[in-house]
Amino acid sequence: MRLLTPQELEASAVVANCAMNRDRKLLGSNSYERELGLHIPSFLRGCSPAVPVSWIDLCCGRGRALIEATAELVQSGDTKPFQIEGIDLAGWINPNPFPNVLILHEQALEDWEPTGPYALVTCVHGLHYVGDKLAAITKAVAKLRPDGLFVANLDLANFRYADGRAAGRSVANRLRDAGLTYDARRRLIRCQGARKVEFGLRYVGADDRVGPNYTGQSAVDSYYAA
Ligand SMILES: C[S@@+](CC[C@H](N)C(=O)[O-])C[C@H]1O[C@@H](n2cnc3c(N)ncnc32)[C@H](O)[C@@H]1O
Repeated sequence: MRLLTPQELEASAVVANCAMNRDRKLLGSNSYERELGLHIPSFLRGCSPAVPVSWIDLCCGRGRALIEATAELVQSGDTKPFQIEGIDLAGWINPNPFPNVLILHEQALEDWEPTGPYALVTCVHGLHYVGDKLAAITKAVAKLRPDGLFVANLDLANFRYADGRAAGRSVANRLRDAGLTYDARRRLIRCQGARKVEFGLRYVGADDRVGPNYTGQSAVDSYYAA
């Protein structure tokens, strides 16, 4: 099978799909709170006041949840300096009313270089469309504060070995060995505190013809060699 290069994947109709849900709210149904099981403003307000309290959302879509969270933090009068950032490949980003606190910009996850230290790194239904998902996770956990949290939706069914065999079980073990936790029921990956992880798998390419995963949307399989 011919696998897609990063450039081909970026141009793929599955990744650039304009019907994708890019406008999740912060709270309520169809929200970050629902997907991650996390009330983000409360989490950020509860972080120790190291300066600043930073949250980055990878694959942020239009950035609606980030704008709503920033509004809530600004209006709460909390004196902690918050720094919030969202990146997304598509660049279909809503106008940003809080440019002093919030940065929303067009950027591929593959080009993101984590600075940190981050109190929170999230990725809501973004990894399903990323080629090298393990590289993305490696970067996401590299610069967490000691009390920092990484949480993201992840479908292990979207991992394959180069010969086509399912690699989800092996990836689950490797995630666990690296100190991350995977909630199979909610399909959520989490990591508390920074970690330098090596999964011992080499990314070889992606396949965008696999059809829908558990979300009901067409996703991307990621291929690795042991
Ligand atoms: C299903 S949407 C979710 C958007 C947002 N997190 C939400 O829940 O509203 C997935 C997003 O991932 C973005 N995306 C896909 N591949 C990406 C990549 N390699 N780098 C950055 N963003 C990517 C897409 O452009 C899309 O906006």
